[in-house]
Amino acid sequence: MNAKTEIQLAADTAAQSTQGMEADDRADAIEHAMASALERVAVKSAIYTSGEEDPTAPRAPLSKPGRVMLMEEDPRLRKMPEKPTLADFFQYRFRTAKQHLMQSAALAKKNGCDEKVILACLLHDISVVGFIQADHGYWGAQLVEPYVDEEIAWAIRYHQALRFFPDESVGYDYPEAYVKYFGPDFRPSEIMQQAHDYARSHKWYMTARQITLNDIYSFDPTVLIELDEFTDIIGRNFRQPKEGLGNDHSPSAHMWRTIIAPTRFL
Ligand SMILES: [Fe+2]
Ligand SMILES: [Fe+2]
Repeated sequence: MNAKTEIQLAADTAAQSTQGMEADDRADAIEHAMASALERVAVKSAIYTSGEEDPTAPRAPLSKPGRVMLMEEDPRLRKMPEKPTLADFFQYRFRTAKQHLMQSAALAKKNGCDEKVILACLLHDISVVGFIQADHGYWGAQLVEPYVDEEIAWAIRYHQALRFFPDESVGYDYPEAYVKYFGPDFRPSEIMQQAHDYARSHKWYMTARQITLNDIYSFDPTVLIELDEFTDIIGRNFRQPKEGLGNDHSPSAHMWRTIIAPTRFL
C-alpha cells in the first residue's frame, strides 16, 4: 500500500470512529491518525502473509527511511477503549461474521440450553472472526480460558473436531456446508480423528456437541441479532478483568493485545 492510500485510510477510519465528538477534538484525532500513518510503518506478521507469499523467500527490508516502526494501535483500525471488554472486541475488532456467533447463541437460547452452552455458542468461533482461522477451536479456547468455566473452554476447543463427525444418537449429521466447503472426498486429519475419539468419551462431550448442534443451522443473512441480547449471560459467565482484556497478565492477555494492535512491530 502506498503512503498516500495509507494516510487516507487512516483519516477515513478516524473520521468514522470519532463520529459524535466535538468538531475540534474530532479534527485533532483525524490529524493525529494521519500523522501516525505517515510516520510509522505497520508490519504484517509472517502468519498473515504466509501462503500469499513464500515465508522463506527473500524479503525487502521492512524499515523505510525517515520512518519508525509502528509500536501501538494501527491508526487505520478503530480506536479501542482503554480497558476493553468482550463487547468492545465484538464492536471494534470482530469481523461481520460475528453474526454467526450471535445466531448460534440465540438458537441455543431458543432450544432451552443452559447458560454455559449459550456462552460457549456465542464464543465458539471467536478465533475465526477475530484472530486466526486454522485450528480455530483451540485458539478460541485459549483466548477465553482464563475468563470462563473450564467446561466452556473445553467445549469450544473440541467443537472443532466434533463438527467433522456425525452422532446419530443426538441427530447430528456431517454438515452439508462442509461438503460444499471441502468437497465430497475430504477426510478429517488423523489429529482431528484422535481429538474426536478422546472427546466422545469425555464427561463434557455433550457440552461440546451442543455447540455443533446449534452451529449447523444458524447461518441466516436475514436475521440480525444484537450482542445486547446476551449482556446478562456474559455478565454472569465471563469474568471480565477490571484492567480490560489484554491488560490483565492472564495466560491469554497477549492474544487479546495482538487483536487490539495486530500490526505492531514487536
Ligand atoms: Fe467452529
Ligand atoms: Fe460455527
